[in-house]
Amino acid sequence: MSVGILGAGQLGRMLAQAGISLGLDCVFLDPAEAPCAAVLGKHLRAEFDDLAALDALASQSEAVTLEFENVPVASLEHLAGQATLRPGAKSLACAQDRGEEKALFDSLGIATPDYRLVATEAELATAVEAVGLPAVLKTRRFGYDGKGQSVLRSADDVAAAWQAVGGQPSILEAFVPFRREVSMVAVRAADGDMRFYPLAENVHRDGILHTSTPRTGDPLTEAAEAAARAVAESLEHVGVLAFEFFDRDGELVANEIAPRVHNSGHWTQDGAVCSQFENHMRAVIGLPLGDTRQIAPCMMINIIGQAVPVPALAAIPGACVHSYAKAPRPGRKVGHVNLVTAAADELTQSSARVHALLT
Ligand SMILES: Nc1ncnc2c1ncn2[C@@H]1O[C@H](COP(=O)(O)OP(=O)(O)OP(=O)(O)O)[C@@H](O)[C@H]1O
Ligand SMILES: [Mg+2]
Repeated sequence: MSVGILGAGQLGRMLAQAGISLGLDCVFLDPAEAPCAAVLGKHLRAEFDDLAALDALASQSEAVTLEFENVPVASLEHLAGQATLRPGAKSLACAQDRGEEKALFDSLGIATPDYRLVATEAELATAVEAVGLPAVLKTRRFGYDGKGQSVLRSADDVAAAWQAVGGQPSILEAFVPFRREVSMVAVRAADGDMRFYPLAENVHRDGILHTSTPRTGDPLTEAAEAAARAVAESLEHVGVLAFEFFDRDGELVANEIAPRVHNSGHWTQDGAVCSQFENHMRAVIGLPLGDTRQIAPCMMINIIGQAVPVPALAAIPGACVHSYAKAPRPGRKVGHVNLVTAAADELTQSSARVHALLT
């Protein structure tokens, strides 16, 4: 059986690794010349809106999925007519626009930071008065790894913030003085069955995810699962869905969703019974979902902007190395290490050794 994947970056690479174990062949569509997943399957090199390439992908695949959330919705609608597409265009349309995403949270009664949609600098000035300061201005579309964002601390920052987002339709959010950031990685099958990984605690550095640590039994688990279920059901989502939250004094406040496998779920490759990648592929091809339980103390640490020090990482107890075979560039995710240990204190020791290798 063959699965088509839109995008051939590291998420596609890890989806294919899981797919290969399930006996699947993968076909990727990606405009890059030599994307890092291409070593694991056939690569159709084309833009995501190239209809002939989309037709070729559909004709070579029994099911099509994605690892990149900014595939044009029109391309997904084109594919949906000729292949089993999981997740569907509805999930993408919502996740691609922070305004629609917030409207969905509102309609489902999921708490969000106070926010206003803004289309002009004057609207931004009014929104600052309504939402208060500090606040974060984000473009509605195409943001990732903290790009397309600007923090406002005083009313004097309005013009600079509006410039920083390029004058694009944006959203102003109250800055949440969070205790922690957490995420729920969930998977939904076509028959509606859902499984949830333990809540992960996430630490960001310079707006980019740095570490994720699963917290089995976290008191916010139930609320996070309920929110993820409501969103997944409302979108009729099939596959993995990730939901990022702030923990504001023990209350969950929704940040955003990703309609795909997520960096905060990478720990599941080595620390859960069935990884997010395998579970996503299971959902895509209609297999029963796998066990999402955490099997040992573990955490994930991203390798960003430097060559992956594979031999040094391999010498650390409990380290499972995942290199994406990508050339390092500032701010670019090139790999991660999952630490899986017998006891929590070993995790602390090993993570100190990993951190010492990071620049
Ligand atoms: N309203 C807010 N209050 C406090 N911190 C925020 C707020 N919005 C964003 N941040 C911080 O910036 C980070 C990135 O924001 P967000 O998740 O919205 O952007 P993104 O570009 O989609 O990021 P990613 O691709 O890493 O998920 C958050 O994880 C959080 O640390
Ligand atoms: Mg985010």
